[in-house]
Amino acid sequence: MQQGTLSVVLATYNEVEAVGPMVRQLLNQLDGEGGPLREVIVVDDDSPDGTADVVRQLGREDPRVHLLLRCDRSGLSSAIRDGLLSASGELAVVMDADGQHDPDVIHTAVALLEQQGLDLVVGSRFPADTDASGSRRIAGLSAKRQSGSERANWLARRSLPPVYGGLNDLMSGFMVLRLATTRAAIRQVNLAGFKFLYELLSVSKGMFKVGEVPLNFRSRQTGDSKLDQAIVWDWLVSLLHTATGRIIPRRAISFGLVGVAGMAIHAGIFFLLRIASWSFLSSQIVAVVGAASCNYLVNNILTFRTRRLRGMALLIGLLKFLMVCSLGLIANIGVSTAVYANMREEGLGIVAVFAGIVVDFIWKYAASSRVVWNVPY
Ligand code: GDD
Ligand code: MN
Repeated sequence: MQQGTLSVVLATYNEVEAVGPMVRQLLNQLDGEGGPLREVIVVDDDSPDGTADVVRQLGREDPRVHLLLRCDRSGLSSAIRDGLLSASGELAVVMDADGQHDPDVIHTAVALLEQQGLDLVVGSRFPADTDASGSRRIAGLSAKRQSGSERANWLARRSLPPVYGGLNDLMSGFMVLRLATTRAAIRQVNLAGFKFLYELLSVSKGMFKVGEVPLNFRSRQTGDSKLDQAIVWDWLVSLLHTATGRIIPRRAISFGLVGVAGMAIHAGIFFLLRIASWSFLSSQIVAVVGAASCNYLVNNILTFRTRRLRGMALLIGLLKFLMVCSLGLIANIGVSTAVYANMREEGLGIVAVFAGIVVDFIWKYAASSRVVWNVPY
C-alpha cells in the first residue's frame, strides 16, 4: 500500500484512558518507512472526562494526530461522518477508540479492498463458523447484547438492498472505505444514533462493492459502553425511516410513535378514573392532559434528546407543549368538520376524522419542534 494513503477515524466519548494507548498503537503499527498512515482524526463530542486534552497532547507529539471537537453531543454516527468528510487520505478506517477493535485487522481489510477493487470492507464480529465447542459467542459482548445485535442484524438485512445480503454484521463499528466512491453517500448520513454502517448502506442504494473480514471483538478494558435505550430507540426509528422510503423525517417518526403510545396511556388513565367513579368529563380532561404530559416527557428524552430540557425550562416547555396541543385539537376539529361538510357520502366520515388527525399531528410536530425544543429550520 502506498505511503500516506490511509486516514484513521476514531470517535470518542469519555475515553480518557483508552484513547492514548489506541492512538499510539496505530501510529506504531501503521508507521515505519513508507508506512500507509496519513493521519488519525479523533472526533470528540466534548467529553467531560478530558479526552480532548489527551488528544491535543498527542497532536503536539505527532502532527499526524488531529482533533475534531464538536460542542453538542451529536452522537456516534455523525461523529464518524464528520471525521470521514474531514479525512484527506484515499482510504479511511473507522474503528472504536476503546480498544475493542483489534488494529491487526486493518491490514487484512485494506488488502481485500485493494485486491478486489471494493468500495467498502466491513469487519464482522460474528464468526462465520462455530468454534470447537460449537459456540458462536463474541468475546467482547454479553449474551444479551449479542442476541440483541443478532436480532438487529436480522431486521436490518430485510430492509437493505439484497446485494448487501452477504454481509454478516450490519451493526459493526469497524470498516475501511474508499473515499472517492463513498463520499457522496457519507454526506447523506444524518442520524443521532450508533448505526453508521447501516445508514451508509441504506443511502448507497446498493451501489457499493462490499466485502467482509472477520474481526476479533475484544472486551472493553476501561470506561463503559455508550449504547443505551435511547440508542436502541434511534435504531428502531431508523429502520422505519428506511422501510418507509426515507421520506418522513426521523424525528417525525419518533414523535409519531410516542404519540401512538400516548393513546394507550390516555385510555389507561381514563378507564382507571372511570372505575374510581369519576365523571366522564373530568376523567377525560385528566386523561388528555396526563397523556399529553407523558408524551412531552418521553419526547424530551427520546425524540429531542439532543435538545433535552431540564429544570425550569422543562416546566415552561410543558406549558408550551400543552398550548401547542390545544391548538392542534382546535385544528383537528376544524379540519375534520370542514372535510365532513364537503363530503357527498355520509359513510365516509372516517376520512374526515383521519384528515383531522393528520393535520393535528403535522401541526403538533412542527410547532413543538420550533416553539418547545427550538429546533433550527
Ligand atoms: N463522538 C462520539 N459521540 N463518540 C461516541 C459516542 C458519541 O455520542 N458514543 C460512543 N462513541 C464512541 C466511543 O467512545 C467508542 O470509541 C465508540 O464510539 C464505540 O462506542 P461504545 O460505547 O464502546 O460501543 P459498544 O462497544 O457498546 O458497541 C459496539 O458494537 C456496536 C454494535 O453492537 C461498537 O462497535 C459500535 O460501533 C457497534 O455499532
Ligand atoms: Mn466499545
